[in-house]
Amino acid sequence: MSNRKIGIVTGGGDCPGLNAVIRAIVKAGDLSGFQSIGIHGGLDGLLTPVQASPLMVKDMDGLLIRGGTILGTANSGRFAAKAGSGRKRKVPQETLDQAKRNFDSLGLSALIIIGGDGSLSTAQQMFEMGFPVVGVPKTIDNDLDATQMTFGFDTAVACAVDALDRLHSTASSHNRVMVLEVMGRYAGWIAAYAGLGGGADVILIPEIEFNFPAIHKKITEREVQGKHFTIVIVAEGASLGKEKITADDGAPDREIRLGGIGHEVAARIEAMTGKETRCVVLGHLQRGGQPTQWDRQLCTRFGVRAARMVAKEEFGKMVALLPNGMMGAVTLKEAVNKIRSVDPKGELVMTARALGISFGD
Ligand code: F6P
Repeated sequence: MSNRKIGIVTGGGDCPGLNAVIRAIVKAGDLSGFQSIGIHGGLDGLLTPVQASPLMVKDMDGLLIRGGTILGTANSGRFAAKAGSGRKRKVPQETLDQAKRNFDSLGLSALIIIGGDGSLSTAQQMFEMGFPVVGVPKTIDNDLDATQMTFGFDTAVACAVDALDRLHSTASSHNRVMVLEVMGRYAGWIAAYAGLGGGADVILIPEIEFNFPAIHKKITEREVQGKHFTIVIVAEGASLGKEKITADDGAPDREIRLGGIGHEVAARIEAMTGKETRCVVLGHLQRGGQPTQWDRQLCTRFGVRAARMVAKEEFGKMVALLPNGMMGAVTLKEAVNKIRSVDPKGELVMTARALGISFGD
């Protein structure tokens, strides 16, 4: 067995496909002569007492389809790169120094950090202080600008579409308005894709300011057409004004928890239209369970590419799905702090509008 070792860590909120990425790195790394070491519980696992253990090829069976992460993860704590309403936070130098000492004593030659914007910002900070890091872009929100798609997104959309399919039959049976709240902190990708794929009548996203008279108009038009039910999908980050609706408990070491816009929208629709309206918050169902076949492929391609980048010592970079559909790499510096938003004038929104779907504007 080689004595070159790759550390693998998962950071931020979990997401379907994390295990598939781990599996791809371990298997491809093994064939390139690397031994993989899993860091447990997010980057905190590199702090004393270190939580790390070898990941063997034989242990990878079944991981392609298993949800969650076998390594555990954290979206709060000492390595959190964001707090409050997206405020940037530098990881303290003494925390990084301790992690570096432990990284060195584990004998690691590289660290692959699988995470979203927050973990990848930490990855950039670590790279600047001498850690040989490679990033892999994860988030169901799909809001990283430097990659055409993050893994986990497709599975989250599939979950939301399944929910919309189910809501259609109950909404039409009762002549109700059904509101589905989905995740999407800064960007409305899940709501927009699921809204199209699941036939929503109204899609509310952070990128397009909405108002209730416009939603009322859409519901009334449907009534006139003899359609006595309406399906609304709303991203958690969509807002009625500047303030997003939160369900926060005030924890200082992580981003504010969003949630509640769906209930607010449902109550206002019911008051305005007099139609019975119900709200479903899909929540963490979107983050759990087996990845779709697309996510399994994307994760495998990301993982193999990350292992190859380690072999070539291409550090300070993140694997990315390029506009031409090929795997590539971008610098972490380019990758972080740039949100990929739904373009209000783009093809996705225009396609929806062409069907008469309302964005509440
Ligand atoms: O960033 C991904 C995400 O799913 C957001 O859409 C959501 O706001 C957040 O994670 C929820 O995180 P938590 O697991 O802390 O509730």
